[in-house]
Amino acid sequence: MTTVSMLLRDTTERLARAGIGDARLEADLLWMTALDTDRTHLYAKLQDTPDQNAMNAAADLLERRLRHEPVAYLMGRREFFALQFYVAPGVLIPRPETELVVEEALRLLHKRLTGSVADIGTGSGAIAVSVAVNCVQATVYASDISARALEIAALNAREHGVSDRVRFITGDLLSPIPGPVDLILANLPYVMSSEVPTLEPELRLYEPLEAFDGGADGLVLIGKLLADAPRYLNKGGAVVLEMDPRQIDLAKSLALEAFPGTTVRILLDLAGRPRVLVVEHH
Ligand SMILES: C[S@@+](CC[C@H](N)C(=O)[O-])C[C@H]1O[C@@H](n2cnc3c(N)ncnc32)[C@H](O)[C@@H]1O
Repeated sequence: MTTVSMLLRDTTERLARAGIGDARLEADLLWMTALDTDRTHLYAKLQDTPDQNAMNAAADLLERRLRHEPVAYLMGRREFFALQFYVAPGVLIPRPETELVVEEALRLLHKRLTGSVADIGTGSGAIAVSVAVNCVQATVYASDISARALEIAALNAREHGVSDRVRFITGDLLSPIPGPVDLILANLPYVMSSEVPTLEPELRLYEPLEAFDGGADGLVLIGKLLADAPRYLNKGGAVVLEMDPRQIDLAKSLALEAFPGTTVRILLDLAGRPRVLVVEHH
């Protein structure tokens, strides 16, 4: 009799042999997905023998993972800002450092009675939906150039009950936003094109290139957004942008060109690197 415990050990070994870090944790996640259960129930089933459907599902998930497909795509979800987000190929998997953008947005919105927000390049809707869930007075425009991303983002807004306050619009950067807003938030593509071939296979082979390739210096889209932002931002508003720590100084000078004499703040990520630029429009 093959038990869950034996299968977990075998899956862990195969993942580890393929050089996948956190093999033990990932084996749990694969079997939780195959058995459609959570970790507590998985551990309660250690001496059970899975049925053939679960065995087939686990074999398929393991094959996909050994080809470096990201775990979040295999599970169909990723936690972000303590919320579960549906993710699938065609949309970027939200990253923990982006939670800093949401934290800063909520801090800035806290001072206001109302707040109009634009999340540019919304992807799965991670920023837009997290802000709407955590700030009931916020109304959010969430834009993306990718129709597939917007489909998934709309699903996440429905799932979290904020569809009435998040409006999804397709288009290039700020151009589809109908009028000035109080907050512009964005985690736009910022990887330098020359570095794309060096990225880990999970990102390079599976996540959409247009979601992470930021052009020659990584700042092509961020630079355009900053240049247009004054026309789309109310006085007293702010722009909050995630970027590569190496781009912060250049981005800061682009921000000061767009908003002369303004205050620019830099927020550090959990690793202590400068990760988010905040431009306050006086
Ligand atoms: C780094 S991903 C961020 C996704 C999501 N905001 C997050 O933080 O998880 C960048 C997103 O920008 C979108 N994008 C790329 N170029 C764009 C453009 N010119 N205008 C609007 N969105 C764009 C991509 O489709 C992708 O969804």
